[in-house]
This record gives sequence, structure tokens and C-alpha cells, in this order.
Amino acid sequence: MKLSQLKINCTTQLQGMYDREEIHSFFYLLCDSFLNYRRFDVSMNHDRLLSKPTIARFDSALARLQAQEPIQYILGCTEFYGLPFQVNKHTLIPRPETEELVDWILSHVQNQGAVLDILDIGTGSGCIAVALAKNLPRASISALDISHKAIALAKENAINNQVSVSFSDQDILDTKSLEKKYDVIVSNPPYVRQQERKAMHTNVLAYEPSNALFVSNEDPLLFYRKIAQLAKVSLKANGWLYFEINEYLSLEMESLLDEIGFMNIEIKNDFRAVPRMIKCQKL
Ligand SMILES: C[S@@+](CC[C@H](N)C(=O)[O-])C[C@H]1O[C@@H](n2cnc3c(N)ncnc32)[C@H](O)[C@@H]1O
Repeated sequence: MKLSQLKINCTTQLQGMYDREEIHSFFYLLCDSFLNYRRFDVSMNHDRLLSKPTIARFDSALARLQAQEPIQYILGCTEFYGLPFQVNKHTLIPRPETEELVDWILSHVQNQGAVLDILDIGTGSGCIAVALAKNLPRASISALDISHKAIALAKENAINNQVSVSFSDQDILDTKSLEKKYDVIVSNPPYVRQQERKAMHTNVLAYEPSNALFVSNEDPLLFYRKIAQLAKVSLKANGWLYFEINEYLSLEMESLLDEIGFMNIEIKNDFRAVPRMIKCQKL
């Protein structure tokens, strides 16, 4: 089969499920991953005859796309804050709003001369910790997650991006106190209420780890309360706590942090103009 025919097959098999732009983008991502072809190479090699194993790899990927599996899991990788990250079924796929959280943190701390101690809670693929480490070469960065399989992948992501992060598997809800004092604590914990499930797509519900996403309807701020209480003790004076938040619970988050005694609380909107981040300071 020629590459041009494969492109037609890809469109025929996926149309109706994804829009045209998305199908093209999948096709080029698969060509990049399986053939090491950029867009230009694809257009220069339309007549290339593909081997049977290569056709089988494309067929398998198309079947997984038809089953609505995210392309990032099919490829086993994604990009976050301009860096390559491996992902698998034990790790959430990093989201663009989390890149904004990293950017917000960096905009505040990047020009500080001091060596910063930073902790990322619920690190998943390690995306926040590794992106911070890459951009703050003098910082000492730690990260934890309850999933040892996520931590194993996060370690690989740190190695592949040539940064040093101290990882541990730990249940934050069962943690009495943090290991040391930090200048910055950041977390993107589980925050989607069970009641929000019905508005979510199959590609998230069927494939992404539910313990990375969901909390109960009754106590959706469980993780935030626990982390903020720990941070109140374990942040250094003037240290900052940053969270990614549920867009529907920003005011509740503000009240929670205020009750726990944090100052300079600020909510920030993401690129879709919805409140998705909050920061506060321990004075
Ligand atoms: C929303 S995901 C965030 C992953 C990653 N930081 C990101 O931004 O893409 C939440 C993470 O919290 C972890 N987690 C869930 N319960 C936890 C607990 N009790 N203690 C520590 N981590 C937990 C999950 O395994 C998951 O990796």
C-alpha cells in the first residue's frame, strides 16, 4: 500500500468521529512516530510503498482512535511546556491549562536569586515538576504521587529531560507532615466531581486514570483542604501555594484558603477566560 492510500484510509475510517483538521493532525502525528516523517516528508513520499509491519502499526492505531483512545496514549508521548513527556494509562495527559499554571509560577519566581525549594503534589507524569526543574536549574524540586506506576514514569521523564527531581510515592491524604520547608508548593490534585462525569467525553472517562480525576460530590475540596493545611505548616515564611482548580469552585477555594489563614489570595483565569488557578501566600 502507498502512503497516499493510507492517508485516504485514515480519513475514511475516522470521519464522522473526528473533524477533518483533527484527522489530518492524527495522520501526521502517526507518520512522525512510525515513519519519522515530518509534514514535508509526507508530501514528498506520497508514492512510497509501506511494509506490512508498518501498515499493521497504522491499522492498530486507527482501531484505537476509532475506540476513542487519546492519541497521546497511542503514541505513548506528548509535549508539555515545550518538553517531551511519556504518558501511559497510569498518568493523566498533561493539559494546556496546567502549562499556564507552570508559566504563572515561573513568572513569579524565575528572577529570584535564591535557591528555591519546591514541592509538586500529585505529580502524575511529572510534567509540572520537570518543567519547573528545566526552567529553574538552581531549584531543589521534589514531587510525590500515590501511584508508584506514575512515579516510575515521572522518573523517566525527568531523566529524558535531563533534570533532577526527587520523587516519592506517598498518599497525601495520609500524610501527617511534609518532609521539609518549601518556598513553593504546587498541586493539580483530583478535582472533578462525580456529578460532572456526564459532561465528559469517552476519551477521558474510558482511558484516563479515574483516581487522577475524580472526587466525591460531597467533599470536592478534600485534597485542597489537606494540602493547604500541610502547606500552612511547611511553607517557609512568605512562601507560596499554587493550585490548579475546578472552574466551578473558585469562590469556595478562595474561602477555604482564607479560613486556613493564607494571605494575598489571587484567582487567575485560563486562556478560555475561566478561573482555573489560584495562589496564596503564607506570611
Ligand atoms: C489531576 S492529576 C495531575 C497530574 C499532573 N500533576 C498533571 O498536572 O498533569 C492528579 C494526580 O494526583 C494523584 N493522586 C491522587 N490521589 C492522591 C493521593 N491521595 N496522594 C497523592 N497523589 C494522589 C493521581 O495519581 C494523579 O497523578
